[in-house]
Amino acid sequence: MTKPVRIGIIGLGTVGSGVVRLLVESADHIQRHAGCPIVVAKAVVKDVAKVRSVSVPIDTLSSDIRNISGDPTISVAVLLVGGLEPARSMMVELLQNGKDVVTANKALLAEHGPELFALARTQGRSIAFEAAVAGGIPIVAAISECLAANRIESIRGILNGTSNFILTRMEEDGSSYADALKLAQSKGFAEADPSMDVDGTDATQKLAILSHLAFGVWVPWAEIPRMGIDGLDVDLLHYAGELGYRIRLVAVASRGSAGLTMRVAPALVKIGTPLAETRGAYNAVSIVGDAVGRMFFHGLGAGQMPTASAVVADIIDTVVGRAAITFRTTGVLCDPDANADRIQNMDAHQRHFLRIRASDRPGVLAKITGILGDFRISIASMIQHDAIEQGASIAPDAGVPLVIMTHACSSSDVAKAIEAIDGSDVVRGRSVCLSVLDERAE
Ligand code: HSE
Repeated sequence: MTKPVRIGIIGLGTVGSGVVRLLVESADHIQRHAGCPIVVAKAVVKDVAKVRSVSVPIDTLSSDIRNISGDPTISVAVLLVGGLEPARSMMVELLQNGKDVVTANKALLAEHGPELFALARTQGRSIAFEAAVAGGIPIVAAISECLAANRIESIRGILNGTSNFILTRMEEDGSSYADALKLAQSKGFAEADPSMDVDGTDATQKLAILSHLAFGVWVPWAEIPRMGIDGLDVDLLHYAGELGYRIRLVAVASRGSAGLTMRVAPALVKIGTPLAETRGAYNAVSIVGDAVGRMFFHGLGAGQMPTASAVVADIIDTVVGRAAITFRTTGVLCDPDANADRIQNMDAHQRHFLRIRASDRPGVLAKITGILGDFRISIASMIQHDAIEQGASIAPDAGVPLVIMTHACSSSDVAKAIEAIDGSDVVRGRSVCLSVLDERAE
């Protein structure tokens, strides 16, 4: 029999346990693809005594990374520890000791990608990271290998399963934001710190990684404008629904004549279009390449086994040598300073969805539409429900929601108009303004 390849796993949390399970339960199938058996020779965890859902022989477990980095019989290390430290130091230790690394840690790559990729290159090692973006969807391979002949023009994606799960629950069952978040955590979709899911950080880090592969530029993720779903409420989703839209957390990167535009924010997408029909913990990526045209990828973007699927595929790629070739030929981050195309805060010309809490008294609507008119913003449709007919217990000056869909207009004009409206005496609280992503461009 062909000699087994011995691998080390660091971290046996949700994803790590799924990887061990897949390697054991699908061992024959994996062996056929890898050309040899793959065995977990060592696992490093924070707490060796912890009871785990996956059974790993006790003699393979330790809490010291050197048991993997210092073992010359282990060639591949699978780093499934989240966060920045100690994950960064562990990756450095592994690369310096000649291990090829597979990881799902997108925060680590988004933050320290340039130095880690440079180190891997100097050491003649590879880093494979399919699982870091969009869980089980093979989007990293698609962009870096299968679409290599294309100049990528745009990416639109739902890249955070937790946010999408929460939005879907709020929309379909009327769950509160807090209840939907708790459910997402119990299902293992959310990060250890779920604020990174719901404030848009996780999707922004994934967009930075995808954009690097697609456009060849390294944009520090913190420079990408972002807004999460944490300020949304069920009413907003219902109003969007009345107008024929769903709200999704959408990551957008597109290359125009003036440079690269990038953004992560909740946006309205027309019901029936692929992004709007992406529900629950599913992720979706729509890519336009100059030769291939538009492609759409859809699959589970979070959760134990979908993420393990991507990790194990990377382990196989590393074992057979494909990961090293891809890492070398795609030149991942070989020139992180080549940012000729720096991110542009381009003014988008699109429709906008506004919710303004207006005072319920004469002249208010005229004042609001007047301000919009002053900024050349034309109204396409408007909703204001009769608060009394709705049996609302709204105090007279709590404000009634006025929902406006504009015609296509400049996003900076909308921002200025909203500032003027919110600064006037006819509103109660801050308005919400979301962009509408037209299906034509999806
Ligand atoms: N917490 C992430 C998500 C999964 O909800 O999409 C890992 O990237």
